[in-house]
Amino acid sequence: MTWLVTGGAGYIGAHVVRALHQDGAQVVVLDDLSTGHRSRVEAGVPLEDGTVLDGPFVRRVLADHQVSGVVHIAAKKQVGESMADPLLYYRENVSGLVALLDACRSEGVERFVFSSSAATYGLPDVELVDEDTPGVPLSPYGESKLVGEWLLRDCAAAYTMRVISLRYFNVAGAAGPELGDPGVFNLIPLVFQALSEGRRPRVFGGDYPTPDGTCIRDYVHVADIADAHLAAARALESGSPSETYNIGRGEGSSVLDVLRVVGDVIGKQVEYDVVDRRPGDPARVVAAVDRIRKGLGFEARRDLPDMVGSAWAGWQARPA
Ligand code: WQD
Repeated sequence: MTWLVTGGAGYIGAHVVRALHQDGAQVVVLDDLSTGHRSRVEAGVPLEDGTVLDGPFVRRVLADHQVSGVVHIAAKKQVGESMADPLLYYRENVSGLVALLDACRSEGVERFVFSSSAATYGLPDVELVDEDTPGVPLSPYGESKLVGEWLLRDCAAAYTMRVISLRYFNVAGAAGPELGDPGVFNLIPLVFQALSEGRRPRVFGGDYPTPDGTCIRDYVHVADIADAHLAAARALESGSPSETYNIGRGEGSSVLDVLRVVGDVIGKQVEYDVVDRRPGDPARVVAAVDRIRKGLGFEARRDLPDMVGSAWAGWQARPA
C-alpha cells in the first residue's frame, strides 16, 4: 500500500511522513512548498511539487505512485488570517479538498485520513470535549475544517470510501531540532520569539474562570499526532469503518503552566505581562480521548516538558 501525504513537507506533515515511512509504509509527498520545505521530506520519499487544486496533476501523482490511501494535511491553518481572508481559506481548504476527492474517485483511491481541528468546536462549554460536542466554529478556518468533515462523511456514505477525521488539539514540540514549527503563530513559539527579542511574553487574559485565571488548552506533542495518523492509516488498511477522533492528551495546561515549563527548560523564570483577553478565546478546551483509545488503541505518550523542550531545541536550530 502506498500513502500519499499532502502537506508532507510542512511542520505536522513531515512528522506524519516520518512515522509512516519508519513503520515500513510506502509514502509519497504532495506539497506546493508554500509553507513547507523539501528539506523536511525524509530521504527516500518522493516529493511531488504542486497543489491539490490541480486535478490533472493530482490524478497523475495518484496513478504514477499507485496510491491507495491519502493522508490530507495540506491546508491553511491560521485563525486570524482566516478572519481577514475567508475566501482564501474556503478555496484552499474546501475547494482543495473537493479537487482532491474528485481525483481520488477517478483513480479508485478509497482510504482517506483527514487533518481536522479542535477549532471545529468553537466555544465548547464542557470539562472534556468529546467528539459528539456540537461544532460551532468561530472562524473561517474552523468552518473550513467542519465543512471538510461533512463532505467526507457524505462521500463515505455515497461512495465506497472510508474516512478517518482527526481533530488536532494544540500541537507543539518536534521530533528533532530540524523539524521544529517554522510558524510563529501559537503560544509556545510566540513566547520564544518574545524572549529572543528581549520582550516579556503577553498573557491574553488573567481573569478567566480557571484555577490561575488563564486559559487552559490540551497541548499534544506533534510526534503523538504523527503516531495517531499512523494508527488511523493502519486501521483503514485493515478494514476499519469511518470515524472521527480527537487527538489530545485529555488533560489541560494553563498559559501560566506553559510559561513555568518554559522557565524550567531555559533555566530562568519567565517574567510576563497579563494583557486584555483575546476575543474568541474559550477559557478551557480539553479533549476527551476515550474514543481514539478504544477505536485505535492510541494514547498520547509525551508530556508538556517534552513538548516545550523539543520546541526550544527547534527554535534554537532555526535558520538566522
Ligand atoms: C493558546 C492559548 C491564547 C499567545 C489553536 C488554533 C489552531 C488549532 C487549535 C489546529 C490561548 C494564549 C497565545 C500569546 C497567550 N489547532 N496565548 N499569549 O487559540 O488555542 O487555538 O490551536 O488546528 O491551531 O485554533 O492556540 O496557541 O493561539 O493560544 O496568552 O502570545 O495561549 O489566549 O489561550 P488556540 P494559541
